[in-house]
Amino acid sequence: MTVDFDHWPYPRHVAHRGAGKLAPENTLAAIRHGASLGYRMFEIDAKLSGDGVLVLMHDATLERTTSGRGRIAGHDLTALSQLDAGSWHSAPYAGEGIPTLVRVAAWLRANDCLINIEIKPCPGREVETGAAVALEARWLWQGAAVPPLLSSFSEAALAAARRVAPELPRALLTGELSPDWARRCEDLGCVALDAHHGTLSRELIAEAHQRRLRVACYTLNDPARAATLLDWGVDCVITDALDQIFPDPRPLI
Ligand code: G3P
Ligand code: MG
Repeated sequence: MTVDFDHWPYPRHVAHRGAGKLAPENTLAAIRHGASLGYRMFEIDAKLSGDGVLVLMHDATLERTTSGRGRIAGHDLTALSQLDAGSWHSAPYAGEGIPTLVRVAAWLRANDCLINIEIKPCPGREVETGAAVALEARWLWQGAAVPPLLSSFSEAALAAARRVAPELPRALLTGELSPDWARRCEDLGCVALDAHHGTLSRELIAEAHQRRLRVACYTLNDPARAATLLDWGVDCVITDALDQIFPDPRPLI
């Protein structure tokens, strides 16, 4: 399907980094846990290994979330697959591995779940990572009822994704909201603005909608604030608080 402003198939609640903080981020265990809590769409961070394989990882270095050391770009997939990406979180997750995007796609598609792939390039690999994510996403979600939503803070990565797979929907991630946010989204052919929730207002969401841009927001963990943003018309809340912010109990497809 083609995703545009009028055809927006994504749920209002999206689990951040798989299942936020309840399980080790960006692992299959996290995604399974999120799904067990009723979440049907998962934001994950994708970057390239040293030998060009897309894996789930937030940081450019391994120390915080794995048993490894050094830059992820300095390790090939064989080395990365030997690391423990679960123990840092808690003992029950010891031995959990760094998943490839290929494995995650297989799980999500088999379980009727959707994905928001945040293109998270290691420094200097923006174009390469944007193109790799888009090409692989096109291949992995071939024939899917709902395509992956690609997002990035890197405009170079989004532009590269657009060049190789223009049909995949894109969202521009923003921190501080610059006055030219709408033009930047439009220049990249984005279907959505993906903003820090603290930068949004009812007026800004209405303006985005008027410009035919959907609005997602991250990382919103306070249930009352989530209710306010949804009341203002935000289209997606990306959250770590899967145990406090409950997804809509409706089928996606
Ligand atoms: O995609 C939204 C959010 O994940 C962006 O921040 O640092 O958690 O990747 P970060
Ligand atoms: Mg992210």
